[in-house]
Amino acid sequence: MSQQILKALNLAEMNSGTYLGNGEWSSTSDAGVLESINPSNNEVIARVHASSDADYETILKRAREAFAIWRTTPAPKRGEAIRLCGEALREHKDALGSLVALEMGKIKPEGDGEVQEMIDIADFAVGQSRMLYGYTMHSERPGHRMYEQWHPLGIVGVISAFNFPVAVWAWNSFLSAICGNITIWKPSPKTPLSAIASMQICNAALKAGGFPDIFFLFNDARTELAQKFVDDHRIPLISFTGSTQVGRLVGERVAQRMGRSLLELGGNNAIIVDETADLKLAIPGIVFGAVGTAGQRCTTTRRLFVHESIFDGVLNTLVSAYKQVEGKIGDPTLPTTLMGPLTDKASVQRYLGAIEKAKAAGGTVVTGGAALTDRPGNFVLPTIITGLKNTDEVVQSETFAPILYVMPFKTIDEAIGYQNGVPQGLSSAIFTQNVKTAEAFLSAAGSDCGIANVNIGTSGAEIGGAFGGEKETGGGRESGSDAWKAYMRRQTNTINYSDALPLAQGIKFEF
Ligand code: UN1
Repeated sequence: MSQQILKALNLAEMNSGTYLGNGEWSSTSDAGVLESINPSNNEVIARVHASSDADYETILKRAREAFAIWRTTPAPKRGEAIRLCGEALREHKDALGSLVALEMGKIKPEGDGEVQEMIDIADFAVGQSRMLYGYTMHSERPGHRMYEQWHPLGIVGVISAFNFPVAVWAWNSFLSAICGNITIWKPSPKTPLSAIASMQICNAALKAGGFPDIFFLFNDARTELAQKFVDDHRIPLISFTGSTQVGRLVGERVAQRMGRSLLELGGNNAIIVDETADLKLAIPGIVFGAVGTAGQRCTTTRRLFVHESIFDGVLNTLVSAYKQVEGKIGDPTLPTTLMGPLTDKASVQRYLGAIEKAKAAGGTVVTGGAALTDRPGNFVLPTIITGLKNTDEVVQSETFAPILYVMPFKTIDEAIGYQNGVPQGLSSAIFTQNVKTAEAFLSAAGSDCGIANVNIGTSGAEIGGAFGGEKETGGGRESGSDAWKAYMRRQTNTINYSDALPLAQGIKFEF
């Protein structure tokens, strides 16, 4: 199975993790090796040579050369390049979706869905390439015109996480490309193959279309290059997706050199279910949000607040839904599977550690609560825990695993207070049929998250909206709406077409 997937993506013979440009993959073999490990059985899928310092410098040099050409290529023409990438991804959707399932461990429909996000953002970027709009303003001076334009930044660095090993790169790099930038990608060391495959698909399409290299890739086995990348003055923007802990360091280091960072960090997302909620919608929304991708989305539902009048009924229905999922835990590449493994053994330990902490704080494991030791791989049971307070330390922190803390509430104000009462601020949702409650939740005094939904869950955002969150989630926005502006620099231009030089603010300066 795994050989078949690798063959379909021309990866069978591939062992370089470094795309140097000019169609060249590095032959470096002494900078360490990354093992791509199948989380379903912990067997090595393939080994990839990591990148050296010299590789990194070659990439930077070529990226700078490429930028000199790309920044003056008309934006709609840049859009055409991304259109070709989108077409190529359509052709390879099945194979790339399978590779994501194999290497990351999410189920095949979610792997395919991730590739679909790449295709969607490609389409979005094509349109956006004709809409890099700036405002025009009326000058306070006669015979003057003011307007603003958006210019590319230069080289954009993307550091992506294992849980969305291809889509997050596409969100960043496709928009970055139509904005006129060159993108250098450092993927998670856990998912090098998905990154290599994505690069190969897009680079082949760009080459066939006569476009220059706009995407580069390096894989770092030692974290030395990653640090160099973050500290590199030649890279005006670093877009980082990952934990709050690492993101904080990235943000601080980039700020030190006055660079820009775009941070997509941890979430601790909640769903509120009030007494009017349509449970036909709420239950599947909760289960997909909490169990989908085995709880390894940054948008995963981790906390559930249920009105006390319906608490027991909702809990019982959830438990029976979880029991059904339990029967469908397994190989994520099989069509019958609903939940795959966690990414590695350390994640299983963190899952078990959180459950122990929850119990020590007085929590009750209502369902799940154990790793599956009867098989290889990093499988755990989806877990529901009750009896905790929102303020308990384990509830306050993000454990990247399928653990849902369910808590009752009396009033909607109380529920919104709980929802907001965590350090993170990514995604949030409410299930209600009461329009006042829904609007209160969406108001300025409502959810403090970057994403707030009504009658849908916390995960599975469409690419058309700006994606990201507040507080310890880092404040960055990617994907749709006007997130493209993060990849450009704004220039305000004032043009005097009169014969005089009137100063602004009416200042007189006569000599
Ligand atoms: C992430 O988990 O890093 O909204 C991104 C979602 C996906 C993206 C999640 N579209 O769940």
